[in-house]
Amino acid sequence: MKRLILLTFTLFALYTAVAEEAKAPKIILGPYIQACGQNEFTVVWQTDTDAVCWVEIAPDDGTHFYNTERERFYQTIHGRRPIGKWHVVTVTGLEPNTVYRYRILNKGVLLNQGNKRVRYSESKGSNVYRRQPYKVRSLDTDSKTTRFAIGNDFHDKPELLSQLFSKEVINQSKYDFVVYNGDMVSSFESEQRLVESVIAPSVAQFASEVPLFFSRGNHETRGAWAINYQNYLPTQTGTPYYTFSDGPAFFIVLDSGEDKPDSDIEYHDLVRYDHYRQQEAQWLKNVVESKEFQQAAVKIVIIHVPPKSNGWHGEAEISKLFAPILNNVGIDVMFCAHIHKYRFTEANDPLSCCNFPIICNPNRTRMDVEVNKEKIIYKITDAEGKEIINNEILIQ
Ligand SMILES: [Fe+2]
Repeated sequence: MKRLILLTFTLFALYTAVAEEAKAPKIILGPYIQACGQNEFTVVWQTDTDAVCWVEIAPDDGTHFYNTERERFYQTIHGRRPIGKWHVVTVTGLEPNTVYRYRILNKGVLLNQGNKRVRYSESKGSNVYRRQPYKVRSLDTDSKTTRFAIGNDFHDKPELLSQLFSKEVINQSKYDFVVYNGDMVSSFESEQRLVESVIAPSVAQFASEVPLFFSRGNHETRGAWAINYQNYLPTQTGTPYYTFSDGPAFFIVLDSGEDKPDSDIEYHDLVRYDHYRQQEAQWLKNVVESKEFQQAAVKIVIIHVPPKSNGWHGEAEISKLFAPILNNVGIDVMFCAHIHKYRFTEANDPLSCCNFPIICNPNRTRMDVEVNKEKIIYKITDAEGKEIINNEILIQ
């Protein structure tokens, strides 16, 4: 009798363990929208267990999400679907300036023995029946305006981020996208650091529906985890520097690298940013020669560190390498960060070496920008909601 009871208990425990193991993966972070363009966007999220995942999209046409089979998009690497906890799926073939609904789906991978055997858990997706599906709007170069918000230099202050970029402020009706212009963490020491300081609060407020662009700051280049930057913040180019277009504007997002010489003791012989910036400058030369750039009515550069020929090494390198390429190609403004205060540098400043204006956004503010073919209007608001700068730049 004792043996029978023991066997029953063992079988029950085994059954419970298998049932527990076979549960669908949970979404523990995201989704958030990266690398948004006119015809594509990328969705990133994290599950608690290993999974293969996909995204389904539907037009915003009033039909229920379950009305018909929806188009699926998968993450693949050289044809194979990667198994993991982080998921990066690019949705393509979209129409510009169009709202799409989407849901993310996860199928847990319980066992992976290659060609021999793969065992899955049940699949589960983001909720599309008890709540509205997520919605994202593609960008549009035919639009007369583009409207976006910039934040920078928060240095691990998720509460400040949530205050300045709250869902009450940042929504699709008022903003086309958000840009973080660097130093949102003080050091990229771990995945958890980026998640807790930047990604999780952004998702909680707006980033599942309003596209987020990231311009790497010198502090995101630091720390044991820094080399994994692109795993969390993918771009169209596969590098932290890239371009995109919206409304009348063409945006060049540059990566300033570190601020001190590569040989500095702080970097422990682990960086080569001088060489990196030279490669970036070669890429930039091709960008300014492109038809898309040359035909844009408004040309905007976003870079964390402002150029300054007699400043720190990073500032001086930007003046030396990037300014000559950007001068005389019609740049209307450069948005910078890094100095933790507001600074407007006039065009042809001898130290910036740039023949266009440079605006540094302070570190505890949100800059709202509206661009049309005639002007760039920018307003800077502090965490208490007080407007501290309201200015405009006329398009030449
Ligand atoms: Fe900085």
